[in-house]
Amino acid sequence: MMDWSDRHCRYLFRLLAPNARLYTEMVTTGPLIFGGEEQHRRHLQFSAEEHPVALQLGGSDRDDLARATKIGVDWGYDEINLNCGCPSERVQRGAFGACLMAEPSLVADCVKAMVDVAPSHIPITVKHRIGLDYDERYSFVRDFVGTVADAGCKVFIVHARNAVLKGLSPKENREVPPLRYDVVSHLVRDFPALTFVLNGGLTSAAQCVDLLDESTSTPPILRPHGVMLGRAAYHDSCCLTQVEQALFGTPVRTREAIIEKIIEYTAREIAATKHRSHPVRVRDVARHTLGLFAGQVGGKAFRRMLSDPLLLAENDPELFRRALPYQSQYDDHRQPFLDAMAG
Ligand SMILES: Cc1cc2nc3c(=O)[nH]c(=O)nc-3n(C[C@H](O)[C@H](O)[C@H](O)COP(=O)(O)O)c2cc1C
Repeated sequence: MMDWSDRHCRYLFRLLAPNARLYTEMVTTGPLIFGGEEQHRRHLQFSAEEHPVALQLGGSDRDDLARATKIGVDWGYDEINLNCGCPSERVQRGAFGACLMAEPSLVADCVKAMVDVAPSHIPITVKHRIGLDYDERYSFVRDFVGTVADAGCKVFIVHARNAVLKGLSPKENREVPPLRYDVVSHLVRDFPALTFVLNGGLTSAAQCVDLLDESTSTPPILRPHGVMLGRAAYHDSCCLTQVEQALFGTPVRTREAIIEKIIEYTAREIAATKHRSHPVRVRDVARHTLGLFAGQVGGKAFRRMLSDPLLLAENDPELFRRALPYQSQYDDHRQPFLDAMAG
């Protein structure tokens, strides 16, 4: 997610969800192909803990995408994903993102070029919408998936709503077009050899379990094979942890333990980057942690402290500990996230 899922954010996500697959922000091919070492580091650096981590590319030129894929593979990414779902006008001016859904053969060409340069264990995947503008014909997305799959894409991440290319902002495009999960079920039915990950509007572990659970009445074949969470994972760490717990049975860390890891990580990053032109600062990490105490007693004060320009200017990782909600009176943060769910 642009401006959100940078490497610091992904490090936090990894602590919260050890089994999740993480995705970078969309990176356009230009800075990778023409940028130097600093641009590469800015867009591609990740911590070893982040694996499995996927690089999402934005572009529509097959040769550029092939070169960017090769660079991503060399940096050690576990998957390269092509963005065919972003509706922003800026992205449309570059002729990529969601508008690519209108050109399935071009996407297929790009995917083929990407598959050709990637080793077979690094999948080339596509994230897309279920339609464009107000066209709700299922045949549109079915034909798109069929054409792109023939080029070698086996995994599709489906944001289960249309993209409206004119007249809606990117934010409205994540809210206004109705969600239609049934379209994903139809894709699962029509392409049994492919993998479909459902995205859009998921906000709870119960919802994810319900969508994936093969023991309920819907025939298993209609289930998506995975779920992707965006906004809920970012704004509410508890939700992400509960999804991890529900799907993988992972014992859950306390918030306090997460904060300890974040302090260590931030100190390490500050030290490692202090001679760079853009050294890591506490604020770079802090801005992603504001959802850690969402809905908890003391959460507001935690967020206030970690957003306070004067406190952040001290650039001391201990700020995270100082921001922990008052411990003797409110010790919710000591409870595993799961307890919050049980309650
Ligand atoms: C701030 C923000 C940035 C986003 N950037 C990207 C992006 O770079 N690439 C992408 O495929 N989707 C991007 N998205 C869309 C999300 O990946 C996701 O498809 C969408 O928010 C719906 O899922 P959700 O309801 O779980 O949030 C972005 C969403 C937000 C809120």
